[in-house]
Amino acid sequence: MDPRTVQYYEDHADDVFAQYSLGRSGIEKYFALAFPPGAEILDIGAGSGRDLDTLIREEYEAYGVEPSRRLRELASENFPRLSGRIYSGTLPGLAADIDRKFDGVLCSAVFQHIPRELQFDAAFDTRNLLKPHGRLLLSIPKDRPGIDSSSRDERGRLFTPIVPEALELLFERLGFQRIGKWETADRRPARSPSRLRGTQRPPCHSAARRAPSSCARSPGMARRAPPELNKGISSAIAEFLSAFFSPAK
Ligand SMILES: C[S@@+](CC[C@H](N)C(=O)[O-])C[C@H]1O[C@@H](n2cnc3c(N)ncnc32)[C@H](O)[C@@H]1O
Repeated sequence: MDPRTVQYYEDHADDVFAQYSLGRSGIEKYFALAFPPGAEILDIGAGSGRDLDTLIREEYEAYGVEPSRRLRELASENFPRLSGRIYSGTLPGLAADIDRKFDGVLCSAVFQHIPRELQFDAAFDTRNLLKPHGRLLLSIPKDRPGIDSSSRDERGRLFTPIVPEALELLFERLGFQRIGKWETADRRPARSPSRLRGTQRPPCHSAARRAPSSCARSPGMARRAPPELNKGISSAIAEFLSAFFSPAK
């Protein structure tokens, strides 16, 4: 983990909660594609708890991990069904702390906060939290403006530059197979419209049902995957075209 980043989330937990709990993350539309019904899911870096709450509402047996004590408190206070379901912990090192395995892991907008030299360990840890054939739904911000030469934003949070293909390779080295990949648009209100115009794609979740080429849902992403696609550990990687967690101003 990166102590400065984790401290940022603790120190600004109230602001972060207010910012994040207002809207949906956008990743929730992939839950039913990535995770079988009723699966046990771990949401790593649960933040405000918004995705965890959605998972539980959608009848997954879901738990979270969040390093910030204050964010854990706020999530449980504001989403009562999360009470008692959020562990304390950070990647890497979680698998040693959490003595159980899950059918699925959600890791949304967290990996960029992990220093490059710890990303392999973090991915390894994620694998160890999954049951055989478990699913990983991972998102990373594809672009994060305003990062300095030490990869930090103006508030000191680490934003390790990530090339999606390199991250995929890292997970593949650990035995994961990619079964889906999507790009989603920046959900923030018109922060940089010109850049978005240049990069936005049609929403892949609806397009996938029409089976286009670039963001087609693989057959393995059907709600119940055919047995041959359940071999190995699978990952589904969603990329945000732009960071949706710009600092609250
Ligand atoms: C950008 S927020 C995303 C929150 C949530 N996943 C969402 O999409 O709404 C990043 C979260 O990851 C947590 N975090 C930062 N470093 C972490 C680490 N090494 N392991 C686990 N969580 C971490 C932060 O405390 C914060 O809540």
